Amino acid sequence: MPSVLILNGPNLNLLGTRQPEVYGTTTLADVEQQSVLHGKTLGFEITCFQSNHEGALIDQIHAARQTYDAIVLNAGAYTHTSVALMDAIASVDLPVVEVHLSNIHARESFRHHSYIAPVAIGQICGFGLKGYILALDAISDHLGTQ
Ligand code: DQA
Repeated sequence: MPSVLILNGPNLNLLGTRQPEVYGTTTLADVEQQSVLHGKTLGFEITCFQSNHEGALIDQIHAARQTYDAIVLNAGAYTHTSVALMDAIASVDLPVVEVHLSNIHARESFRHHSYIAPVAIGQICGFGLKGYILALDAISDHLGTQ
């Protein structure tokens, strides 16, 4: 059974109460539950991990090499700053789908650039929780499991 890691970065643990006008009231637990449920329908085993620490996210990406078939990554603000995360993804031979709850291209200009995009198979943004579901569908197509 293909396994997929759902990786969420800084401040996403506060979803639900964090800037609801931007991110809505969906919690991280909602995101993870819905992802696990949808993953099941696609025949995926889903594991979820969230960290506020760049190094912890990098460690997860390195470890994923032996364990997972793909990664769904919302790197939060590290998306716009982290060459180290970009290098980590480039160093492991795993398909990564970049997800953002908000439409980063319709927000402040510093959010328009992503260090993740060049090393991801694609980017989904602006659809809230649904973005994670769409990312899993994209991974299913990419892996040819459907
Ligand atoms: C985010 C967008 C980022 O710009 C921001 O720093 C986040 C959340 C999103 O899911 O919309 O923390 O990744």
